[in-house]
Amino acid sequence: MLRFLTAGESHGPALTAILEGMPAGLKIKINRINQEMRRRQQGYGRGERMQIERDKVEILSGLKNSLTLGSPIGILIKNKDFKIERLPSVISPRPGHADLAGLLKYGFVDIRCVLERASARETAARVAIGAICKIFLEQFRIRITSRVLEIGGRKNVTQIKKIIDQARINKDTVGGIFEVKAKGVVAGLGSYTQSDRRLDGNLTQTIASIPGIKAVELGLGFGYADKLGSGVHDAVYYSKARGFFRKTNNSGGIEGGISNGEDIVLRACMKPISTLLAPLDSVNIKTKKKAKASIERSDICVVEAAGVVSEAAVAVELARAFLDKFGSDSLRDIKASYQRYLKRIS
Ligand SMILES: Cc1cc2nc3c(=O)[nH]c(=O)nc-3n(C[C@H](O)[C@H](O)[C@H](O)COP(=O)(O)O)c2cc1C
Repeated sequence: MLRFLTAGESHGPALTAILEGMPAGLKIKINRINQEMRRRQQGYGRGERMQIERDKVEILSGLKNSLTLGSPIGILIKNKDFKIERLPSVISPRPGHADLAGLLKYGFVDIRCVLERASARETAARVAIGAICKIFLEQFRIRITSRVLEIGGRKNVTQIKKIIDQARINKDTVGGIFEVKAKGVVAGLGSYTQSDRRLDGNLTQTIASIPGIKAVELGLGFGYADKLGSGVHDAVYYSKARGFFRKTNNSGGIEGGISNGEDIVLRACMKPISTLLAPLDSVNIKTKKKAKASIERSDICVVEAAGVVSEAAVAVELARAFLDKFGSDSLRDIKASYQRYLKRIS
């Protein structure tokens, strides 16, 4: 089974990750992974940290001559901003961040012990893992993209930039909505046979696990609520050239927890960043007296980057479901199994 773990603090020496279950025989170009790392660091509204970090991955294991060996792939991303032992204590939790809940849970006396790991810096490791999964999926012409739909309620690019600039001036932050699309996904990934095998459940879980994501919808999503069944379900057609197909895709490419051959379409809402330069009310955890929340170096808006992280998350889930269906040891065997399946369902 495809699985991964990440480790590393925001200002520790490095982030590391292990991806296990990638089949043998896949050619990995490090540049392709670094391209995704770069995309995560872009977007209008990013903070100073993004000018310091230029993430580059090193692969420590699982490759020989750029080909996967089927063994665990070890990844290293060094932090240029390594200074964890020199950073000051944080004593007033930021509303909306993990600060207070983490402090209570683990019994720390310094919020830095929480925020170093709770920070979305961790998503750099997820993007590296996702990039490898994207390379795998591209072997089967599956492509995953994302785009910003709105930020701070604005849809037009000029308006979006304006609202981010205004938020920066006002020492505030903004959130928004983005869409993730997977094209070329064959029908049959995922299953209704157990709750943890449903592709819709696994995709929405993985996106909701990205820090700051507060809602995820699949296909028409909340738009189903005020419609009649006759107006929303995607009628089925068949032609020799195309096989089974739909003229609409309100289901977002998944029915019964299984991909149905249409594009997989998800939308998610990223909340406004919780670190505010004009901080909200909080409490000094030592004195228990009223205080303003702590200020950390921070982004103003990360909706575009959250889309890139979500692409990676979707790539991992689709790769897992794909390997589950078509075998998992050797890319050559998987390709043969995939071709046989395509022939059967055509
Ligand atoms: C790519 C990315 C970058 C982020 N950057 C920041 C940031 O600079 N400052 C901040 O307060 N939150 C940032 N966040 C959001 C926090 O990590 C998140 O709100 C926090 O961990 C609490 O988790 P929750 O919002 O899911 O409850 C970022 C999230 C993502 C996906």
